[in-house]
Amino acid sequence: MRLGAALLLVLGVVNAETFPLDTDDNIRRSAALLAHDTTVFYKGNLSGQIPGILPGPPPAGPYFWWQGGALWGTLIDYWHYTGDPSYNEVIMQAMMHQVGERKNYEPANYTISLGNDDQAFWGMAAMLAAEVNFPNPPSDQPQWLALAQAVFNAQASPERHDSECNGGMRWQIPRTNNGYNYKNTIANGCFFNIGARLARFTGNSTYAKYATDTWDWVQGVHYITDKWDVYDGAHIEDNCTSINRAQFSYNAAVLIQGAAFMWNFTESQVWKDRLNGLLDRSLKVFFRDDGVAYEPSCEPGYTCTTDMYSFKGYLHRWLAQTSLVAPFTADRIQPILRSSTEAAVKQCTGGDNGRECGFAWSSGKFDGKIGAGQQMSVLAAVTTLLDPPNGPLTADTGGTSKGDPNAGGAPPDRVHRPITTGDKAGAGILTAMILAGAALTFGWMSWEGKDATV
Ligand SMILES: *[C@@H]1O[C@H](CO)[C@@H](O)[C@H](O)[C@H]1NC(C)=O
Ligand SMILES: *[C@@H]1O[C@H](CO)[C@@H](O)[C@H](O)[C@H]1NC(C)=O
Ligand SMILES: *[C@@H]1O[C@H](CO)[C@@H](O)[C@H](O)[C@H]1NC(C)=O
Ligand SMILES: *[C@@H]1O[C@H](CO)[C@@H](O)[C@H](O)[C@H]1NC(C)=O
Ligand SMILES: *[C@@H]1O[C@H](CO)[C@@H](O)[C@H](O)[C@H]1NC(C)=O
Repeated sequence: MRLGAALLLVLGVVNAETFPLDTDDNIRRSAALLAHDTTVFYKGNLSGQIPGILPGPPPAGPYFWWQGGALWGTLIDYWHYTGDPSYNEVIMQAMMHQVGERKNYEPANYTISLGNDDQAFWGMAAMLAAEVNFPNPPSDQPQWLALAQAVFNAQASPERHDSECNGGMRWQIPRTNNGYNYKNTIANGCFFNIGARLARFTGNSTYAKYATDTWDWVQGVHYITDKWDVYDGAHIEDNCTSINRAQFSYNAAVLIQGAAFMWNFTESQVWKDRLNGLLDRSLKVFFRDDGVAYEPSCEPGYTCTTDMYSFKGYLHRWLAQTSLVAPFTADRIQPILRSSTEAAVKQCTGGDNGRECGFAWSSGKFDGKIGAGQQMSVLAAVTTLLDPPNGPLTADTGGTSKGDPNAGGAPPDRVHRPITTGDKAGAGILTAMILAGAALTFGWMSWEGKDATV
């Protein structure tokens, strides 16, 4: 026992030097170690396992299907920023296995937890692959750009934009899923984001039209406020007026990145103003005074879920990309990503290897919360400190991925399969998440008056 304690002490001391960030080579080395420590959570390439997904979805394991898509996006960025191709084959196998029956990232296996945002996280990973010229899939497989277009086409279909709350998309796709009556920022924000990026990549302004309409809706229902706060969503029963005012960084970040692409595509003052408004407010809300990423709606009360443990990674990656497509934001974004990342690696002193990461970046101490999301977030932060070889490409500036404007086809009528015991358990967890969301709203309301967060 004494030996164990001594060993931990040694590891603790050693750890201060485990993830040095002082030179590009050291950042690359640190990122490589973090990539290794992230992918150990992935079992999908072992025999008998399902390629593409992290252990789950609940109750089979802690991770919902979408986190697989989030992991591959993070590792595509890892390859792009570092040049290390170690995970490229794993990424390719994973991204291809999950395309689903209609090649639009709606595999029947995960219907019970299939939200528009879940589908879009895979779509955004495919879009990124196209933008960074990640190696193209074999020609008999669906191509990156076509996959992003297929996700867009599915979500642009009139079926997903009913008139409740004057438009907008619902959170969930199948009518029978819990949360079908919730219209939220992340579902609409991801669709906006993919639309903006497809417009820029292809030059086809139809995508930009959808993106603009979606932005207008999100702002119209006041999920984006006059002060540029970004709220989570609302239920259709009261016309989306009882807004869940929890602020999560991925909601703001997906809009910021999308607005940056709209700026790059249109070069219009309107999008510049929107981007500036959102960015300045979000830097305050999510990086506070210490310049370290923070989730104000769940971190103070230790109520963050497995999903939320991954949010800081998207915040870092999407802000990093924003600074590339809207270079006028770089002076504001880069210093804060640096200070945040330095804090992030300091708390990676946990687990058996003495270098696993937790979630409480600004505390300076490992919080005991080990997981794929925590690990992936620090990986994302470290990776994006590097200068990538190029900003996101377009079809005109070297992007080679082949598209198909009609990819995915028209969505057929939903097939409702019988509910199994496993489905019920999954649905229960979603309900619990929604209830937790409601609790957050009240929690938020009760201390909002104290101006405790920002
Ligand atoms: C599975 O992927 C990991 C990287 O995530 C790699 O280290 C390992 O060798 C792969 N295993 C197999 C059986 O391909
Ligand atoms: C769906 O589930 C089956 C059975 O577990 C599995 O073989 C298959 O790979 C899964 N497909 C996807 C896309 O996950
Ligand atoms: C532009 O995108 C829209 C929406 O997918 C599509 O209907 C249209 O055919 C595209 N136009 C061109 C010229 O590719
Ligand atoms: C619902 O809200 C929208 C604005 O988001 C408004 O235009 C519409 O009139 C409202 N409908 C009802 C029935 O109150
Ligand atoms: C658009 O993005 C590219 C790629 O990062 C960048 O070089 C260019 O300056 C951006 N254009 C504008 C108008 O900001």
